[in-house]
Amino acid sequence: MSNLIEIASKYKSTKKMMGFIDIYNYYFNTIKDKNLNIFEIGVETGESLRMFSDYFNKSNIVGLDIENKDYNIERVEIFCGDQSDKKILNRIIEKYKTFDVIIDDGSHKNKDVINSFNHLFPYLKFGGLYVIEDLQTSYIPNWGGDGVNLNNKKTTMNFIRSLADRMHYQDIDNPFYQKHDFDGLIEFVHIYRNIAFIKKQKRFYESNLCYKNSWYLGLKKNRKDFNFKSLRDLRYFIKYFIKHILG
Ligand SMILES: C[S@@+](CC[C@H](N)C(=O)[O-])C[C@H]1O[C@@H](n2cnc3c(N)ncnc32)[C@H](O)[C@@H]1O
Repeated sequence: MSNLIEIASKYKSTKKMMGFIDIYNYYFNTIKDKNLNIFEIGVETGESLRMFSDYFNKSNIVGLDIENKDYNIERVEIFCGDQSDKKILNRIIEKYKTFDVIIDDGSHKNKDVINSFNHLFPYLKFGGLYVIEDLQTSYIPNWGGDGVNLNNKKTTMNFIRSLADRMHYQDIDNPFYQKHDFDGLIEFVHIYRNIAFIKKQKRFYESNLCYKNSWYLGLKKNRKDFNFKSLRDLRYFIKYFIKHILG
């Protein structure tokens, strides 16, 4: 049996109840027989770890839970700790080095989700997937979400949306744009209802419109920089400088 949908029928993971299995099957189908490092935050009854151990039959599987979970599952190691605690994350990284798949199904607190992503993403392999479950908590204050200001920068959904900007960083028309650590490292951000899949890949695309983060320079085919003796260049530059200062 190698289909995740069939295997999942034997286990009681919350992934089934949330309707995530078909989506997982779509992404995992081509990698299931490889020797991978899979890391899931949030163990609960251990059912997802049992399911993954059954499905990814050559992989190491790591679980992390804030509560002590003493389950004995083949090729699975479970750590106890808080996903927002860098010390426990570093202990796991020290042992497993890098991961092919990271799944955040832990506290679902927006702050924890964002902090864990920022800390763990550098250790996701190129070609690897970072999955964030239960995005609905992005809209509920109890988890640090916001149902009123949907542009609130502190929510999981706005963080995930911002990852799409990391894909387009060369196209951002702002000569004062400050490069972000994850720029050029995101291949896709796929958002489904309540779950997102982010693929890491080294990508360098030249922008067809901007040059040095400027559409104005991009227009002037052979121009490599601004000419401050030109009033038009100066005007463009000052306009962005003011926008940059005002945020
Ligand atoms: C939704 S359950 C995980 C379900 C499991 N992944 C599955 O699919 O069957 C969430 C788990 O996250 C754990 N948890 C809550 N806050 C956490 C935190 N800050 N760090 C790590 N784990 C946490 C809870 O103890 C709980 O077991």
